[in-house]
Amino acid sequence: MYQIKNESDYIKSYKASVEDPKLFWEEIAENNFTWQRKWEHVLNFDFSKPEFKWFEGAQLNITENCIDRHLNDRGDKTAILFEPNNSEEKEEHITYKELHVRVCKFANVLKDQGIKKGDRVCIYLPMIPDLAIATLACARIGAIHSVVFAGFSSSSLAARVNDAACKMVITSDGSFRGNKCIDLKSIVDEALDSCPCVERVLVAKRTHTDVAMKVSRDIWLQPLLDAAVAVCPIEIMDAEDPLFILYTSGSTGKPKGMVHTSAGYMVNTAYTFKNVFQYEEDDVYWCTADIGWITGHSYIVYGPLLNGATTLMFEGVPSYPDWGRFWEIVQKHRVNQFYTAPTAIRAMAKEDLSHVTKYDLSSLKLLGTVGEPINEEAWRWYHKNIGDEKCPVVDTWWQTETGSIMIAPIPTAVKPVPTFATLPLPGIQPVLVNADGEPIEADKTEGNLCIRFPWPSIARTIWGDHQRYKDTYFSKFENCYFTGDGAIRNEKGYYRITGRVDDIILVSGHNLGTAPIEDCINEHPLIAESAIVGFPDDIKGNALYGFLTVKSPVNSGEEKELHHQVNQLIRDKIGPIAKLDKIQFCSGLPKTRSGKIMRRILRKIASKDAENLGDTSTLLNPEVVEQIRDNAL
Ligand code: WT7
Repeated sequence: MYQIKNESDYIKSYKASVEDPKLFWEEIAENNFTWQRKWEHVLNFDFSKPEFKWFEGAQLNITENCIDRHLNDRGDKTAILFEPNNSEEKEEHITYKELHVRVCKFANVLKDQGIKKGDRVCIYLPMIPDLAIATLACARIGAIHSVVFAGFSSSSLAARVNDAACKMVITSDGSFRGNKCIDLKSIVDEALDSCPCVERVLVAKRTHTDVAMKVSRDIWLQPLLDAAVAVCPIEIMDAEDPLFILYTSGSTGKPKGMVHTSAGYMVNTAYTFKNVFQYEEDDVYWCTADIGWITGHSYIVYGPLLNGATTLMFEGVPSYPDWGRFWEIVQKHRVNQFYTAPTAIRAMAKEDLSHVTKYDLSSLKLLGTVGEPINEEAWRWYHKNIGDEKCPVVDTWWQTETGSIMIAPIPTAVKPVPTFATLPLPGIQPVLVNADGEPIEADKTEGNLCIRFPWPSIARTIWGDHQRYKDTYFSKFENCYFTGDGAIRNEKGYYRITGRVDDIILVSGHNLGTAPIEDCINEHPLIAESAIVGFPDDIKGNALYGFLTVKSPVNSGEEKELHHQVNQLIRDKIGPIAKLDKIQFCSGLPKTRSGKIMRRILRKIASKDAENLGDTSTLLNPEVVEQIRDNAL
């Protein structure tokens, strides 16, 4: 049941998973993991609460499954293969045995510093081995990790630290990204000025730059690790004990701390890793994401290690020292499975092909993509130039909230089709519903993508706000999980994800809510109102277009200055990823009679699709639409 080797395996598994989901997941759980105690119930759930309990009564520790149980058979196999930012610096091979020691030592350091089961620990680190090790060390002692992507600004970091009331932050002196050296520690210092909950900051050394250490709060990590005991027993976790919190943008208000729990997340990420990537024992697998996102949690750390895989961790960026870096790494380490995002593919496709052809990519067996819809051109470029038309391109659809891949062609069973994520994985029951929430059963159809039966790695709640969890995912449509995406289903039942149906914009595959950006801009003393929409961008998928109104008229020189200040504000409050590519100053924003900004119209104008703006008769101020259209950038 575990590995799907052909089409008939897939058909059988899928059928079994729908007919008796409990039995299906129970067999997988039973045969592939180490449990300290078995479950009493495979699944209890109630969509109306909403509540999902998988493997209730079971006890386990995910790190025993990721590390300890491989020590006999794979002790000397490389678990983590670290490739530094600087191609001249030597790579690091961390075997399962070494990983065991390093995680145990780190776990003991956490304990010595007063961290206990259930405490929240924020990890704000670059893509260095300490990031994966810190994450696993938390899991080993039952502390709840909250990894924050180290590209986030100090105020974004502070908001996340405070939301989960983290007791500790783990960071480094600095980080290397391409030719940049970023001063992470000072970002942390600034954030922590407004985080009274943090008692301790552990600081790893990476850039060896001088940093200020706050007495009685900050400690260098390495001396503590050197002195720590190399054995640390696992904390016994209940199946539904939280494993981690990971923040994702909401369409309104503050980020949502999605909570994932231990047993279900483990079973689901392991199963999907094995099947989607068809990992075989001696393969080298590489996912280029950052561990600060769910892709890194599930498919750099947990999924691969649960399968005893070799997982490559890359510190740098695809363009440094030049646009051939990814392929140089593939050649150097004979990478077999490669998993990246459409935005990276599009950026590389723009560059000279010699960056690709220079390298021997014959080790590749499979190419994956994730994060946003992949356009056909990018898909074909990837398939042809990277995969030599021999590797399946596996388009994987899923979300921070789903924990694991949901819809993707299992390459041994389903032939990929460009722009389609194709078929649901076993255990996943997608449904398209119309605006009234009625399932659309038709052969060829389009609708809101929902999932009508729970799967083991569904996020259980939003940290500290169960009501918001219910409102966001389970209230618009009854008795199912609403993804926020729209999708088309073709005559073969293949799904094509068309994009978000809410006010979330995917920029380079990163989820950005429009409301938090607008709130941030509106803090500027000269700005009256703002509306952010996405518009197509060749590389990023979408870029941000801001329509702004000012409190009192400004001249064009002042507009320029304001433009700069607005982006600086966004950079400081949210992070550089949310900067606006275009800013248009307007005399007013199109509004409905109830005062709601008509984003639909602004989206069309921003996308240069303003010929037919649809019905504007309900507008309070139709005259501004023409003005905005005439001055569009
Ligand atoms: C949103 C979730 C899951 C890891 C990365 C993003 C979009 C994701 C695909 C895909 C079309 C995709 C969806 C989804 N998305 N993968 N293969 N095809 N769209 O995680 O930040 O939680 O974003 O990304 O819109 O809802 P996330």
